[in-house]
Amino acid sequence: MGIRLENLVVKFGDFTAINDLTIQIPKGKLISLLGPSGCGKSTTLFTICGIHKPAGGKIYFGEREVTGLEPEKLGIGLVFQNYALYPHMTIRENILFPLKNLKWDKAEAEKRVVEVAKIVKIDGLLDRKPGQLSGGQQQRVAIARALAKKPENLLLDEPLSNLDTKLRVETRQEIRRIQQETGVTAIFVTHDQEEAMSISDQIILMKDGKIQQVSTPTEIYMNPCNKFVASFIGSPAMNFIRLNVKDGSAQVEDCIFNGLPTNKKTVDLGFRAEDMEVSVQGFDTIVETVEVLGRERLLTLNHKGDTFKMLVDKEFMIEEGSTLKIRPKVGKAYVFDTETEEFITKC
Ligand SMILES: Nc1ncnc2c1ncn2[C@@H]1O[C@H](COP(=O)(O)OP(=O)(O)OP(=O)(O)O)[C@@H](O)[C@H]1O
Ligand SMILES: [Mg+2]
Repeated sequence: MGIRLENLVVKFGDFTAINDLTIQIPKGKLISLLGPSGCGKSTTLFTICGIHKPAGGKIYFGEREVTGLEPEKLGIGLVFQNYALYPHMTIRENILFPLKNLKWDKAEAEKRVVEVAKIVKIDGLLDRKPGQLSGGQQQRVAIARALAKKPENLLLDEPLSNLDTKLRVETRQEIRRIQQETGVTAIFVTHDQEEAMSISDQIILMKDGKIQQVSTPTEIYMNPCNKFVASFIGSPAMNFIRLNVKDGSAQVEDCIFNGLPTNKKTVDLGFRAEDMEVSVQGFDTIVETVEVLGRERLLTLNHKGDTFKMLVDKEFMIEEGSTLKIRPKVGKAYVFDTETEEFITKC
């Protein structure tokens, strides 16, 4: 087992930032901690690495309990959003720095710097200063520095936020490659669902200091456990419409939904932009906008004040302002409890 958190509680004064968090991160896997701003991702990470002291619960690295230990005693690699490189030192000296602190043999340390620089592909830049590197290169240096001491665990807090979109996409794949090549156990904090989806073995989705769902990227997309997860994962975000249910059925104009819970008066129906179709057995919408995405077109539709996003083929020609009769594809919509927001069934 790589990292285990058991019933972790973290407080700032009266405010409970993390509430009874239990997570298992298998050795050698990359797990994303995902969630909106303020949900407790960084707090969780800072508590694992000993910067915050938990008010309750335990942290284990393998079989070793490390709760409350000082960061230096943990032997973990840390990478933050701002690369935090020493500007006056060369790249070589920056990567060497933690090894010097750990009193590594000089020749061994220098060999390791070159080795780790090769892994992150910056071995040609070792004699430059950080100011002479691009943002993406600087972030690779920060990763090299974190990996130099051969940590078993690597914690990354929004490491890509300072990079532009293209570099972010490239660098996230690099992080995945490096993680797999080195076999390090990694926790990757991000608020970007696409980033988490693209590189993780598992995603831990949090809200208000609590876990909402722990799943593989495919599973969390296909089977969200509640309305929050359904709306947070996927782009464009899932569409929702409230249905009035009678005897397990609901009707919106010419569109009939069956197989709904018989004990509910209302449910929230969620459906993704790619799971909709034009149908005579549908409901009328007005096409507000048509965005050409290249391979597809993204329509913004309005149905009596509800806005839906629908993906259609690039060949599908339609004018803004026209009407379109649509419905969610049968079997592809998600039914959520209006009160608890829990997933109930598909329909
Ligand atoms: N040192 C602190 N003192 C008091 N409250 C704090 C402190 N650090 C964080 N918090 C609060 O704890 C909650 C969780 O913060 P945290 O930084 O973990 O969020 P986050 O998920 O990392 O958000 P972001 O995506 O914006 O980085 C927030 O409500 C925040 O205001
Ligand atoms: Mg944060």
